[in-house]
Amino acid sequence: MSEMPEPIERTSQWWELAAHQSEIADVHLRELFAQDPTRGERLNLAVGDLYVDYAKQRVTDETMSLLFALARKAKVEELRDSMFAGDRINVTEDRAVLHVALRAPRGAEISTDGRNVVPDVHEVLDRMANFAERVRTGGWVGHTGRRIRNIVNIGIGGSDLGPRMAYEALLPYADPDLDVRFVSNVDGNEFFELTRDLDPAETLFIVASKTFTTLETMTNARSAREWAMNVLGDESAVAKHFVAVSTNETAVAEFGIDTANMFGFWDWVGGRYSYDSAIGLSLMLAIGPENFLAMLAGFRSMDEHFRTAPLEQNLPAILGLIGVWNGNFFGAETLAVLPYSHYLASLTPYLQQLAMESNGKSVDRWGRVVGTQTGEVVWGQPGTNGQHAYYQLIHQGTKLIPADFIGIARPAHDVGPHQDIFMANFFAQPEALAFGRTADQVRADGVPEDQVAARTFAGNHPSTSILVPDLTPSVLGQLVALYEHKTFVQGAVWGINSFDQWGVELGKKLAQAIVPELTSESEPALSHDSSTNSLIRRYRALRRA
Ligand code: F6P
Repeated sequence: MSEMPEPIERTSQWWELAAHQSEIADVHLRELFAQDPTRGERLNLAVGDLYVDYAKQRVTDETMSLLFALARKAKVEELRDSMFAGDRINVTEDRAVLHVALRAPRGAEISTDGRNVVPDVHEVLDRMANFAERVRTGGWVGHTGRRIRNIVNIGIGGSDLGPRMAYEALLPYADPDLDVRFVSNVDGNEFFELTRDLDPAETLFIVASKTFTTLETMTNARSAREWAMNVLGDESAVAKHFVAVSTNETAVAEFGIDTANMFGFWDWVGGRYSYDSAIGLSLMLAIGPENFLAMLAGFRSMDEHFRTAPLEQNLPAILGLIGVWNGNFFGAETLAVLPYSHYLASLTPYLQQLAMESNGKSVDRWGRVVGTQTGEVVWGQPGTNGQHAYYQLIHQGTKLIPADFIGIARPAHDVGPHQDIFMANFFAQPEALAFGRTADQVRADGVPEDQVAARTFAGNHPSTSILVPDLTPSVLGQLVALYEHKTFVQGAVWGINSFDQWGVELGKKLAQAIVPELTSESEPALSHDSSTNSLIRRYRALRRA
């Protein structure tokens, strides 16, 4: 591990930012725009297909240069280079962090522990492509000889959110003859509802789990096997209706899936960074190998940008640092991610895991309790729905809520006047948030004096607007890689390990211990706190009633 640095919040770079924040805390975005008529043309960056405007963030040129100095002090670039070099930067799990190798071109070299992992990546991609083509063309059939019409991905967290999000995002590219579904929750109602109208003879289950031990996934997988066998009758049918995606070959074999039908990945791929590995098999089945590879190329172009661009022109660095600025210096606790796209409905939940499981840490990489806020609470749903729900609080509430707006210029389906009405909202909301409406403007509209205060908009709410030409596989890859690397930059500044997730372990362990207390015939001796004991007793009584 690298030498222990001084905590970031004790560095002179941090204090300079704090001093600068007190100088500009009251400066309104209206003033910043008035002072510099070219602000909108200057504070943006076009990288690949992404045009990112951060002129409506509460930053000046000085803010940005102080933030870049902070990033340099935190050695963000050095950590980035260590990641690309295959060093074991996931210190608590002693693992390399090489999701960037998942999209490296054939022939590239990215090594960890002296082994070039790129050939392994392409070997799995080739097997996935071969399998996907067979299923898509009817070469792979079910146990009774019927063609596969339904794909059910069973997984949770990173083994669900990524492929689910990308499948929805790329629906216009999906084979309309394949019905792809995602079962994640261990709530049996979900399994029931998602399989009730499916014919097992035409259904292929993908059990996607890095560890192949996750309680939710294994419970769903066992139910799926029982559901399929009840109809197909024969254990040998498992081979035709179940494939696995995992790093755990032994557990896959123990479950009864032939390891010839297993698609592997590696411990250097974190769950939340894994949908471009074999975890994306359901996606590849839906959109076909060619589109999947185009998506990887999109990821790759953003990786290259992140790896090579100086901080001052580095999009993930700029967005990450602006997040630090809003969170650590303006006290914002959340980030609303607001895609103006029906197809990106699951982007925010996906980014939630990416950002919050990665950076929800309170101990740094050297084992010290951090001295500043980390993590970003990510939330939101597609516009314009949110506008009629929670935007009120963003516009006129008492909290500072920075937002990322994501808009797509050319829709997959241009239906009547929809697109321009939709996008008018995409442009209007950041404008309203930034500039608000002063009391004088409200008065000038003829609003009665007793309503002026309530109808005034303070403005000065920061946002970033990301505009892309179309939602292609490549653009999706670029967008996701942007957020991956943004998350990396923030973790590096805070000095935390963005690649472990110990915080989910305690709840898992306690749940495992509670299961027998709920299922035992006789009243169990409970030794939890009095609240948990009472809840469990009441639940048992309700179940029996
Ligand atoms: O929530 C914890 C976690 O380990 C995530 O990081 C991961 O994406 C998810 O569980 C699923 O894990 P697995 O793929 O091993 O089933």
